Amino acid sequence: MRQVWIPRFGGPEVLTVREADDPEAGPGEVRIRVAGAGVNFADVSARAGLYPDAPPPPMVVGYEVGGTVDQVGPDVDGLAVGDPVMALTRFGGYSDVVVVPAGQVARVHDGADLVEAAAIPVAFLTAYVMLDHLGSVRPGDTVLIHSAGGGVGLSALQLAKRLGAVTIGTASAGKHQRLAEHGLDHAIDYRTEDFEAEVLRLTGGRGVEVVLDAQGGSSFRKSYRCLAPMGRLFCFGLAAGNAPKRSEAWRTLPKALATTPVFHPVQLMNANKGVFGLNMGHLWDEGYRIGRFLTELAGRWERGEIAPVMDSTFPFTRAADAHDQLGRARNFGKVVLTP
Ligand SMILES: NC(=O)c1ccc[n+]([C@@H]2O[C@H](COP(=O)([O-])OP(=O)(O)OC[C@H]3O[C@@H](n4cnc5c(N)ncnc54)[C@H](OP(=O)(O)O)[C@@H]3O)[C@@H](O)[C@H]2O)c1
Repeated sequence: MRQVWIPRFGGPEVLTVREADDPEAGPGEVRIRVAGAGVNFADVSARAGLYPDAPPPPMVVGYEVGGTVDQVGPDVDGLAVGDPVMALTRFGGYSDVVVVPAGQVARVHDGADLVEAAAIPVAFLTAYVMLDHLGSVRPGDTVLIHSAGGGVGLSALQLAKRLGAVTIGTASAGKHQRLAEHGLDHAIDYRTEDFEAEVLRLTGGRGVEVVLDAQGGSSFRKSYRCLAPMGRLFCFGLAAGNAPKRSEAWRTLPKALATTPVFHPVQLMNANKGVFGLNMGHLWDEGYRIGRFLTELAGRWERGEIAPVMDSTFPFTRAADAHDQLGRARNFGKVVLTP
C-alpha cells in the first residue's frame, strides 16, 4: 500500500509518500481500497505538533475515507466485498488501503462518488451530533455557525437549513457570496465586524438558540453572550490557536488557552444556558451509536438531503498543497486526497 507519512513535526513539506505491505482484515474488521481520504484541520495541527491526540511521528494521520470493501474479516455482518463505503479511521486514513472496525463503516448507495464519500464522515457527523442529536434544533430557531465556509461549517449549514433554522454564519468576506448561494441567511465578516453586536442586532437583541464555535479562546465568551434563554453553545475546537507556522503557534496557542472562559454551573442555571463540549476523536468507544449516525447520513446523501461541498482534491504526492490549503484557510468546503 501507499501512504502519506508525517516523519517529523514541521511544515507541509515534511509530508512523504512511502510504501508498505497491505494490512489484513482481522475479526470484526473490513479492508477498504481507498478512493479518497479526507483532510481535516486536526491533521494539519498534528503535523505541526499541536494536536495532543495524535501519535508521535513517524505517523500516518487521516480520520476518514471513501472506497470499496475488498476484504471482510470473520464476524462481520452486513458488509461484503465490492460494497461502496465511507468510514471513520482512527488515524492512518492517508493510505490507499485501510483496515477498519466494521462499526465505523457505512455502506453508501451504488454509483456514489467515493472521493466525495471521503468528505462526509467527520464534517457531517460533527455537525449532526451538535445540531440533530444534542442541539435539538427546531423549525424557526436561529443557529450561529462560526467558520461557516469550512468543512464542518458548510455541513452544519445544510443540516440547520433542513431542520428549518434561520442561519447566521461568520466567515472571511471572500466566502460570503458562496455562502449565500448555499443558503446562509446572514453572513458576518468576523475579521472586520464584532460578531456579538451583529448577532444581537440581527435577532433584535434576543440572541440565538444554538452556537457552533470551534474558534475558541475569547470567542467562546462572546458566543455565550449571543445565546437566547435556553440557548446552547457547542465548543468543539481551538482554531484561534492555529498559526501558519509552528514557530508562531507558540504565541497564538497559549493566548487562545488563556482567554478560554470557565462557565460556572450556578451562572448557567440562572441564565438558562447550556455549554457543551464535543470531541468526535474521543467517541471511539461509542462505535455503535456513531455507526448508526454514519448510516443515517449515508441514507440522507442517497436521498439528496445532504451533499458534501468539495473544495479541492490533491493526489497523495501533493499532500503538502492539500495541507497548505487548509492551514491558510483558503478552502471553501472539504479537501480530499486521492491515491
Ligand atoms: N471537536 C471535534 O470533534 C471536531 C471535529 C471536526 C472539526 N473540528 C474543528 O472544527 C474546526 C473547523 O473544522 P473544519 O474541518 O471545518 O476546518 P476547515 O474546513 O479547515 O475550515 C476552517 C475555517 O475556519 C476559519 N478560520 C477561522 N480562524 C482560523 C484560523 N485561525 N486558522 C485557520 N482557519 C480559521 C477559516 O475560514 P475563514 O476564511 O472564514 O476564516 C477556515 O476555512 C477546526 O478547528 C477543527 O479542529 C472539531
